[in-house]
This record gives sequence, C-alpha cells and structure tokens, in this order.
Amino acid sequence: GHGGSDGDDYLFKIVLIGDSAVGKSNLLSRYSRNEFHLNSRATIGVEFQTQSMVIEGKEVKAQIWDTAGQERFRAVTSAYYRGAVGAMIVYDISQKQTFENVERWLEELRVYSDFSLVTMLVGNKSDLESLRQVSIEEATDLAEREGLFFIETSALDSTNVAAAFETVIKEIF
Ligand code: GTP
Ligand code: MG
Repeated sequence: GHGGSDGDDYLFKIVLIGDSAVGKSNLLSRYSRNEFHLNSRATIGVEFQTQSMVIEGKEVKAQIWDTAGQERFRAVTSAYYRGAVGAMIVYDISQKQTFENVERWLEELRVYSDFSLVTMLVGNKSDLESLRQVSIEEATDLAEREGLFFIETSALDSTNVAAAFETVIKEIF
C-alpha cells in the first residue's frame, strides 16, 4: 500500500472536500463518534480525526481531514492536500449545484495532490429522497468517466457512512 508506515502500523491521510453544507463534518462525526448535529456550524480552517481499523492483521490508522467548503474559511490549500493518499468528494443529492461543482473539486485535487489518490465520490443526504436532484445514474456516469469510486450516504440515518470510509481505507491498503 501507499502512505507512511511505522513498523506494523500504517497511517493514511484522507481528505474530505466538497461544497459548504453538503455534510462533510457530519459524515466525519458520524463515522468517528457516532454523532450527528442538525444545526452544525460551517467549518472554519481544518480539523481532523484519527480512526483505527485492522486489515489483514495490520493496524491501519486513517487520519481524516475536514476543511471548510467555503472559500473564505479555508486554510492554506496545499498544506491540506499534502501527503493525502485518499480523498472523498462530497455533494448533496438534494442540491444539484453541489454536484455540478464536483468537477471543480476534482481539478483542485489534481493540482495539489502528489499521489494518485484513491478517490470516492460521495452523494450525501440520501435520506432526502423526496428532494432528490441528482440521480444515481448521472453520478455513476461521472464516477466512471473520472475513475472514482461512488457511494450514496446519509450522515443523518447512518446509511453507508462506515462503508464509505472503510472502502477508501481498504483500497489504499
Ligand atoms: P462546511 O463546513 O461549511 O464545508 O459544511 P459541511 O460540508 O461540513 O456540512 P455540515 O456537516 O456542517 O452539514 C451541513 C448541514 O447539513 C447541517 O445542518 C447538517 O445537519 C445537515 N446534514 C449533514 N448530513 C446530512 C444528511 O445526511 N442528511 C440530512 N438530511 N442532513 C444532513
Ligand atoms: Mg464542515
């Protein structure tokens, strides 16, 4: 696998990107602490959480970085991406514009990341089926075109949250 290794331990840096309010911070809090916040604040700067899992008998630590979707709250972009071996590009299935901006996030990822990252396209808020503006088909098409893994999640009801992170971590490994 890629990434830093320290004896039998592996440390993988994974970055979360995507527009503001798509649910990046809630995906991370759901995965790392099983918490969801209905009225979470926009992220300012950068935060990260470390999660461990065992794969093929090896301890693998994923350091998952979360930053602001809003340009004005973002920290130095190159530092955010440095050393990342995985990325999750998140959009909101009920907000078409957040899906249209995925190409923009892909470009930024390609400018700043120095590895061939394992990249997952994540359609979050799958609980909002009645407000859906992005079909599974068009998201699958984009993912195939760009060589991304694809999954829909809900940080609210927990659907596929662990699966999304664990797929990225296993693919890196
Ligand atoms: P920035 O930090 O500004 O980039 O936003 P973010 O992508 O981190 O979004 P955040 O996690 O703060 O969530 C924004 C809003 O969406 C909050 O009100 C959340 O409660 C809500 N939200 C997040 N995930 C879901 C979800 O899966 N379903 C629903 N219905 N709401 C969600
Ligand atoms: Mg946030």
